[in-house]
Amino acid sequence: MELETLSLNTENGAETAPAPKKVFVKTYGCQMNVYDSQRMTDALAADGYAATEIIEDADLVLLNTCHIRERAAEKVYSELGRIRELKQEKAAAGREMLIGVAGCVAQAEGREIIRRAPAVDLVIGPQTYHRLPDVLRRVRGGGRVVETEYAVEDKFEHLPQPKRADVAKRGVAAFLTVQEGCDKFCTFCVVPYTRGSEVSRPVTQIVAEAERLAEAGVREVTLLGQNVNAWHGEGADGAEWGLGRLLYRLAEIPGIARLRYTTSHPRDMDDELIAAHRDLPTLMPYLHLPVQSGSDRILKAMNRRHKAVDYLRLLDRVRAARSDIALSGDFIVGFPGETDADFEDTMRLVREVGYASAFSFKYSPRPGTPGAEMPDHVPEKVKDERLHTLQALLVEQQQAFTQSMVGRTMTTLIEKPGRQAGQKVGRSPWLQPVIVDEKAGEIGDIIEVRITHPGFNSLYAEPI
Ligand code: 5AD
Ligand code: SF4
Repeated sequence: MELETLSLNTENGAETAPAPKKVFVKTYGCQMNVYDSQRMTDALAADGYAATEIIEDADLVLLNTCHIRERAAEKVYSELGRIRELKQEKAAAGREMLIGVAGCVAQAEGREIIRRAPAVDLVIGPQTYHRLPDVLRRVRGGGRVVETEYAVEDKFEHLPQPKRADVAKRGVAAFLTVQEGCDKFCTFCVVPYTRGSEVSRPVTQIVAEAERLAEAGVREVTLLGQNVNAWHGEGADGAEWGLGRLLYRLAEIPGIARLRYTTSHPRDMDDELIAAHRDLPTLMPYLHLPVQSGSDRILKAMNRRHKAVDYLRLLDRVRAARSDIALSGDFIVGFPGETDADFEDTMRLVREVGYASAFSFKYSPRPGTPGAEMPDHVPEKVKDERLHTLQALLVEQQQAFTQSMVGRTMTTLIEKPGRQAGQKVGRSPWLQPVIVDEKAGEIGDIIEVRITHPGFNSLYAEPI
């Protein structure tokens, strides 16, 4: 509904539009959820809802949830308990507050959420966000709605594009989902069940969205997908394109100065994508390529379908294409059956690769995944120890990487004002926050800087 068509408030004889309804969205989990939250906000904006950061002001509270690891669902239920109290307080004051659960917990739990959380009005899965305005109308019509069927229509085609002003507000670095879902079925992972099977968005849709972002002032675009490098689609030339080709095309868009993509699977790093790292200065020299384990036995049990050596040789090829590329990865310790020797293989792999940053997790059995049914679960205490040991090494590598930046010159995209007066914060090609004097440039500028000294998880720099 357009704001203009809302009924006018004629109290006191003055015709003024009523205050728009407000939506508060809380996002858990990955970057795709961040993107989805923005698109839900856009869908609701077209329906007369303004976004708010203050939950007490909201007429609609949406939790965009994550189901990837431990007790995610439990956290959502306890959050819902707190919001329920707020809802009751508002009801006592005569104001309605609707509560919705979206995201992967919504998909996995469905009707169970309605049963366990009496305050929830709607449950909506990631494939049906474009139906949100309709779902709200149904809720208003009476009753609670669960919408977790996979839609036959393409949600992206039905989701409204954000307004230019909203894009600008969200900053000069933006996410763009190009691929969703996963057909890999790693035995630890719930994603193929919550996000469904792999779907790639068409080239024309992606290019149009990137152009809109660029027109609104976005300089850096991160392509998102659960298996982003499995993206494929038909190009304007009728040929089947892979992610590499897509990156070459996106690099042509005026205004887009930086491209990234995440998250990749080692099996889908093809020659063209590696060549894109060689040829495109726009493609940032940073690759998040999870390996999960360095043990071939565990990789097999995880159904990763490659060996440790395949991963290492792949990195050789990537580094040959782009020598300054920095690596990031994901690791799971304590997968069922993991022995001390398997864990040692992981440590060895990490030492050999040398990561600029990494995420590491204790294995957490996800209901419905094959891993959860496997024998020889690793005791929690052992998982704790292994995680501690691995993280100590990864932190050491990250610090060494940060330290190696001192004295180097590099480009920085200025993104926002700094936390301290007189500063602005930018981002290095390797995703590090770079702190500069506020006069170094305007937000959206890409400037050359020299790194003077490292901060805590950041770099201090002077413009050249
Ligand atoms: N337990 C622990 N970590 C997991 N991940 C995915 N599923 C699990 C699980 N069941 C981690 C993987 C993945 C990242 C997004 O989360 O490392 O790459
Ligand atoms: Fe999960 Fe990634 Fe494996 Fe797909 S490839 S099942 S998203 S870990």
